[in-house]
Amino acid sequence: MKVAVYPGSFDPITNGHLDIIKRSSRVFDKVLVGVLVNPDKKGLFTIDERVDIIKRVVLPYDNVSVKSFNGLLVDFMRENNSNVMIRGLRSVADFEYELQTSLMNKKLDPGIETVFMMTSSEFSFLSSSSIKQVAFLGGCIKGLVPDEIISDVAKKVKSIK
Ligand code: PNS
Repeated sequence: MKVAVYPGSFDPITNGHLDIIKRSSRVFDKVLVGVLVNPDKKGLFTIDERVDIIKRVVLPYDNVSVKSFNGLLVDFMRENNSNVMIRGLRSVADFEYELQTSLMNKKLDPGIETVFMMTSSEFSFLSSSSIKQVAFLGGCIKGLVPDEIISDVAKKVKSIK
């Protein structure tokens, strides 16, 4: 049973993330989406909200599950019997950071592999931070995040404004 971990901040999950999840679920037996608990960074959504939102969005995929994690990703992977992580690559701009991070993870646990999946072209410009900016400034986020979470983002932005 090959379990792949797809880690990230997912604040919020975008259509680009969902595309990677869907495609990974066809490659691996199980995909575990790992939502990082980062005490240094205050997000738009709380960690529990992000986990709930992602659970709702991945409901159609039987082999996808969602958990939050603290601390090192390699420890979370070991605890969940996984030695493969998936990362999406949008452009060369992502490459430098991803290379450094994958080498650090390899140093921390040589048994772990990072598998990179190229983002589908229609999502290559998407990021959670640009989507938050658009939402805060009153722009339309349809097509950028899964339809079923548009109202969650709108409500959250309204509650903060
Ligand atoms: O969606 P993001 O913010 O690009 O995801 C980054 C993430 C969560 C994959 C990365 O920050 C991470 O793995 N953090 C956990 C801490 C860790 O293991 N650090 C060691 C590698 S530098």
